Amino acid sequence: MEIQVRQMTDNDAPAVQKLSEQLGYVLSISEIKNNIRETISSKDHIAFVALHDRKIVGWIHAFKALFLGSISFIEIGGLVVDENCRSKGIGKKLIDRIKEWSLEKGINQVRVRSQVKRKEAHQFYLNNGFVEIKEQKVFQIMLW
Ligand SMILES: CC(C)(COP(=O)(O)OP(=O)(O)OC[C@H]1O[C@@H](n2cnc3c(N)ncnc32)[C@H](O)[C@@H]1OP(=O)(O)O)[C@@H](O)C(=O)NCCC(=O)NCCS
Repeated sequence: MEIQVRQMTDNDAPAVQKLSEQLGYVLSISEIKNNIRETISSKDHIAFVALHDRKIVGWIHAFKALFLGSISFIEIGGLVVDENCRSKGIGKKLIDRIKEWSLEKGINQVRVRSQVKRKEAHQFYLNNGFVEIKEQKVFQIMLW
C-alpha cells in the first residue's frame, strides 16, 4: 500500500474531523480548522496526515511538553488511522515521522497517554518500541 505522509493544513479539516469521530471526539469542522491553524502556527506543535490515493487515511498531532520541574519531551496528542486501513503500517509511519521531528528538535523522548480501555492501541505502542512507565487518573474542573 503506497502511503505518503505530509504536514497537515487547515484544508484537511473535513477529513481530519471525520477520522476524529472514530476516536470518539465530536468537534465541528470549523473547530477542527481552528485547532489545526493554532497547531501549525506554533513551533512547538506539529501535525501530519497520511494519504493513500490522495485520500487522508490517518493523522497524528504532537507537541513539545514543557514542565517546570522536568526535562521536556514530545507528547503525542492524537493519532488515528481510518478503521478500513488499519494493520497496514500507517500508524507506524506516522509515529516514525514524529520520532524524526523530535530528533530534529533535539529531544530524545516521545510519550503518549492512552486511555486504559484502548487495549489495541497499547499493543501498537509496545510494538513500536514504547514502554509503559505509569498509570494515571485525570482530574478536571469545569469553570463555566
Ligand atoms: C492504534 C492505531 C493508530 C494503529 O494504526 P495502524 O495503522 O493499524 O497501525 P500499524 O498498521 O502500524 O500497526 C498495527 C499493529 O497495532 C496493533 N493494533 C492496532 N489496532 C489493533 C486492533 N484493532 N486490534 C488488534 N491489534 C491492533 C497490532 O499490534 C497491529 O499489528 P498487526 O497488524 O500485526 O496485527 C489504529 O488502530 C487506530 O487508529 N486505533 C483507534 C484510535 C486509537 O486508539 N488511537 C490511539 C489513541 S492513544
